[in-house]
Amino acid sequence: MSVVSTEINNEIAVITIDNPPVNALSHAVREGVSRALQDVGAKDGVRAIILCCAGRTFCAGADISEFGKPPKSPTLPELMEQMDHITIPLIAAIHGTALGGGFELALCCHYRILEAAAKVGLPEVNLGLIPGAGGTQRLPRLIGVSQALDMIISGKPVSAEKALSLKIADRISQNTLEQDALAFAEEIIKDYRPIRRISALDVKADPIFFENFGKKIASKTRGFLAPIAAIEAVKAATTQSFEEGLKVERTEFIKLVEGPQSKAQRHLFFAEREAAKVPGIDKNTAVLDIRQVAIIGGGIMGCGIAVNFLNKLLPVTLLEISPEACETARQKITEIYGSSVKKGRITEDQKDKMLAQLTLTCAYHDISDADLVIEAVFENMDVKKQVFEKLDSVAKPTAILATNTSFLDLNEMASAISRPQNVIGLHFFSPAHIMPLLEIIRTDHTSDEVLATALKLAKMIGKTAVVSGVCYGFIANRMSSCYGREAGLLLLEGAGVEQVDRVLYDFGMPMGMFTMLDMAGIDIGVMARENISPENYDQRAFAIHAALVKAGYKGQKTGAGFYTYDGQQKTANPMVNELAQKFAEEFQIIRRPISDQEIEERCIFALINEGYKIVEEGIALRASDVDVVFTAAFGFPRYRGGPLFYAEQIGFDYVVRKINEFAKTHGDRWWRPSKLLINMAAK
Ligand code: 3HC
Repeated sequence: MSVVSTEINNEIAVITIDNPPVNALSHAVREGVSRALQDVGAKDGVRAIILCCAGRTFCAGADISEFGKPPKSPTLPELMEQMDHITIPLIAAIHGTALGGGFELALCCHYRILEAAAKVGLPEVNLGLIPGAGGTQRLPRLIGVSQALDMIISGKPVSAEKALSLKIADRISQNTLEQDALAFAEEIIKDYRPIRRISALDVKADPIFFENFGKKIASKTRGFLAPIAAIEAVKAATTQSFEEGLKVERTEFIKLVEGPQSKAQRHLFFAEREAAKVPGIDKNTAVLDIRQVAIIGGGIMGCGIAVNFLNKLLPVTLLEISPEACETARQKITEIYGSSVKKGRITEDQKDKMLAQLTLTCAYHDISDADLVIEAVFENMDVKKQVFEKLDSVAKPTAILATNTSFLDLNEMASAISRPQNVIGLHFFSPAHIMPLLEIIRTDHTSDEVLATALKLAKMIGKTAVVSGVCYGFIANRMSSCYGREAGLLLLEGAGVEQVDRVLYDFGMPMGMFTMLDMAGIDIGVMARENISPENYDQRAFAIHAALVKAGYKGQKTGAGFYTYDGQQKTANPMVNELAQKFAEEFQIIRRPISDQEIEERCIFALINEGYKIVEEGIALRASDVDVVFTAAFGFPRYRGGPLFYAEQIGFDYVVRKINEFAKTHGDRWWRPSKLLINMAAK
């Protein structure tokens, strides 16, 4: 069946693209649209053409899976050029989302009508790209350079209402899009409205605007090449002809699409979607209906988790130990919503509706109707087991009993109750209402129904889900422990706090390890390690942390930690170096100058090695899941695609050789190379 069809009614031709699931502009679609336009153009009597899509959305862009393959004619730019010569009014009728090449296709039309819930945008930056089918040349001509660059560089789509105010949309459909588009076409014909080619419009801007824009976005887009290329291409729209501008866009696009950053970001695009696919779970697996949620514990995590469900207007009952603790939790949640209103993310009215779904209680019997209970109490096995035993006696038989533990053995927790099949880990990351990842931990007993429900729930609350098996720290914290271990050991061996942080920041991490610990509070990790068996971590690596906390230096909240703080100014805390010398002596570690390269490789290769062990042991379903976890939870630079993708980019051979060297120098307790990694290198 053809992916493009044409229907002609009187003077109006309707060209429909039908290429599920998202009408990506694959070669077949481009060829089909091109031919349909030629056929319609050759027919007498057609006085308007509507371009629309079947299924759930207008075109979601170029077909990403075709990138990296030899281009097949007609390419998108060739199709757009053909459209730019059409002399019959062309109307794009948009529902769902018109994204990337899909929006560029609509910009080649002379008029645009949008369904009220539709959105349009240019999200190419998320794939390490710039719009490559005229978007950088047409959008600034239509809405001005400032708004156009905002859309291109944020990658965020705009609503139909906003599109109308920006004059991207000519009209918003009030009834059915199909009928309204036909009525619009009839109007255009009746009024003899001219065709309006955006390419024929003029756009000007002061060159200083681009310089300032680059400075404005520099810190947010640090390390990414696409935003810089986007500014160059949009600037060309203001200094060169439309055709010359297109050439600049093309050159920049090709450089990016063939470069390592876009390959890495495209890997993550598919990896994030793949992560939600679990063998044995499919659309036929039964899912439970979640209408009521209960959260046990109103600390920062419990409150953040509650917000995810309140946002979706799901009733949440939060249980705390005393009326005072309930009140504190209510205040925390109200503050989160207050800040969302302040930032313009939600309205006062929406806030009130969401908060109205919240109930606080100290009584377990008040949560007996909950379909899903998530405990977020103190990270201690005995405490968690007690909570689970209580839940076992009050929760309804079908209720999912979830824990937010970050490290503890879920199999042990599950086997403490009579319905282990209902137990699952839902590991949120702080702040839980903002961080995009949800690590779903499947125990030896978790039923398929419970797992399928958790996956569906993650999608509903807008989280990227990754499934992990049970092991110490699961995927995320097991890996981050290795990363933190190497940073800690490097201090003992002679590296400075500022040096380690600078190297990791320059690698692309959002901040250095010690800046992060100071922000989060060093005491949190120190307390957590008090409950961890020493065989699970290297006590030497965290000796400085414990000593700092003991001396009252817990990080920013106490005015000093690894750094001392004076207003905005931070300086390495001299006490850290003294402690490093003392502990090096105690642990018989010889101090020496450490190169930046060693810091980077010790920290990042530790992640890679552990990541491959996690895959090898079957804790993660696939290597790309590990990449999703570490980019989403810890800000590993997306333009490097995640630690395991990065290993492939720099060469498995090299990584294995260095890991073997580290094992020789530092012992193989932590540096035993992963068998899977060795196999990858051998391939
Ligand atoms: N190309 C190829 N496949 C695509 C695709 C695309 N542009 N967009 C989505 N898909 C696939 C997904 O991989 C997924 O496949 P799967 O079912 O096998 O896993 C399937 O379509 C459904 O996608 P989602 O699970 O993401 O569905 P949602 O309903 O949650 O979201 C969406 C729909 C908002 C359209 C989302 O898929 C999306 O954001 N897509 C990417 C949009 C994009 O980045 N467009 C720009 C492409 S680059 C470009 O156009 C360059 C041009 O300027 C030249």
